[in-house]
Amino acid sequence: MMFRLDERLSLCAEFVREGTRLADVGTDHAYLPVWLALNGKIRSAVACDVRVGPLENAKANILRFGVSNIVSTALSDGLDNLEPDSADDIVIAGMGGELTAKIIMRTQWLRDRDKRLILQPMTRADALRLFLCENGFCLQEEKACVSARKSYSVMVWHYDGQIRECQDVFRYIGLLEQDDSDEARQYIAVINGKLKKKLLGFAADSEEYARLCEVTARLDFLTRK
Ligand SMILES: C[S@@+](CC[C@H](N)C(=O)[O-])C[C@H]1O[C@@H](n2cnc3c(N)ncnc32)[C@H](O)[C@@H]1O
Repeated sequence: MMFRLDERLSLCAEFVREGTRLADVGTDHAYLPVWLALNGKIRSAVACDVRVGPLENAKANILRFGVSNIVSTALSDGLDNLEPDSADDIVIAGMGGELTAKIIMRTQWLRDRDKRLILQPMTRADALRLFLCENGFCLQEEKACVSARKSYSVMVWHYDGQIRECQDVFRYIGLLEQDDSDEARQYIAVINGKLKKKLLGFAADSEEYARLCEVTARLDFLTRK
């Protein structure tokens, strides 16, 4: 039996490396690891969640689709209960950007050049990009998608120990600045709309106002191209 992933989880799946050991943090229904196992793309997966209810959903789906030889479950706050060698590709999707950053911050073993972080924040992607730049992670790929009329960005990061300055435009749209796709343009337009709303809260002579005006001018240009 097979099922389809929506565009958001499909994009996460696309970034998972062939034959990898996966950890899906905040798995809920475990659709992503189950789908990857059914498609023969992964060697193993740990579907993790901090709550018992979602983990029960995950277990039910793992059994239903007959992939318990590949996908196991773990009750875990972030990656706290996982061993460093249990996963090489780590997906954290469908959570806030700040929570995602906290999970990464306290997991020392993610500071390893061979691990890949596949991240899809629901909010505050800017805070997440800033945190990763300041903590030695490198953004290697990023794509946008539209699912049920909402725009999402999915990013792949790895650790190389280099602290990078997170330029303003990069903080808000990452590698999508160089992406001509309709999906990227739509994501940029949504971020631009949010920043323009935020601008209304600053005095016109403040530094923050000037900074955000520069960013929105660049985003205006990118969405008109
Ligand atoms: C909105 S669901 C996302 C499900 C799936 N990853 C997706 O993108 O469709 C968020 C899940 O994250 C779990 N979660 C929230 N905080 C967590 C944490 N600190 N550690 C692990 N899981 C967490 C919740 O229990 C919930 O099941």
